[in-house]
Amino acid sequence: VTSLGVFGNPIAHSLSPRIHALFAQTRQDSINYQRYLSTPAHFPRRVAEFFRHGGQGANVTLPFKQQAASLVTKLSDRARLAGAVNTLIPYGNGQLLGDNTDGEGLIIDLKNKGFKVSERSLVVFGAGGSARGIIPLLLEQKPRCLYLINRTAEKAEMLKSQLETLGLVAANRIQVRSSATEIDEPIDLLINATSSSLNGQRLTLPSVLSENASGYDLMYADQPTVFMDQLTQAGCKNVSDGFGMLIEQAASSYQLWMEGERPDTAFVMAEMRAPS
Ligand code: ATR
Repeated sequence: VTSLGVFGNPIAHSLSPRIHALFAQTRQDSINYQRYLSTPAHFPRRVAEFFRHGGQGANVTLPFKQQAASLVTKLSDRARLAGAVNTLIPYGNGQLLGDNTDGEGLIIDLKNKGFKVSERSLVVFGAGGSARGIIPLLLEQKPRCLYLINRTAEKAEMLKSQLETLGLVAANRIQVRSSATEIDEPIDLLINATSSSLNGQRLTLPSVLSENASGYDLMYADQPTVFMDQLTQAGCKNVSDGFGMLIEQAASSYQLWMEGERPDTAFVMAEMRAPS
């Protein structure tokens, strides 16, 4: 039995144990995936104990993703860019590799939904941890332009210049605007990486959306998020919450621990969305 788990606070409502159990079922693996509630003061010790007692892989969720990045022996490139770790992989002698599958999860889910990034004009709202995780991978897809908008504009400027320093941004491919209304071209894809939906708060949308514009909220809930409602009202036909990203980032983590084929995420998504 492969011993896996997830660290977070709160953690009681995490869907990860169910998702990973379904992955194991589809691949006929034998796993034991537990939730671990922790505090910032205890987190490093709890993680070390988990792996010392035979843990073979773990996820890290809020609020520990940044702390996890400072704890590991080695960081993947994408985790370093995000400044955050959501996947811990032991590699012998008590050493830990920290990876981040959030951005990959988003890219795969956007592809599943037919939301195009390459050569398109994008808006990303937010410049916090979630935005940092996804922007490098979005840029890899070579959008025409990525407009970065954040309530605190300086944070967006700072993120842009960090990405530039790392050589990740070709000239003008990322543009900071203090408000979406300052964008003067039609937008194809809008992504909400802020926590605005948690508080039910509206964001100011760009004035012009392209005819087939799509919208994606990293958050998910039983009901469409405020951001999704706003986009639907603005005439956007394709809007999605972040549930697919949740499943896909989990599948990427699972594959890192268990190797072999990627689990069948379509099956798991249908299974989880079915009314229980
Ligand atoms: P996360 O890890 O979820 O990204 P975070 O790093 O605290 O959390 O970042 C939260 C992001 O949501 C930030 O971009 C924040 O904007 P500020 O940098 O101005 O704080 C954004 N955010 C939170 N509540 C918001 C709201 N009501 N409207 C707009 N942006 C909001």
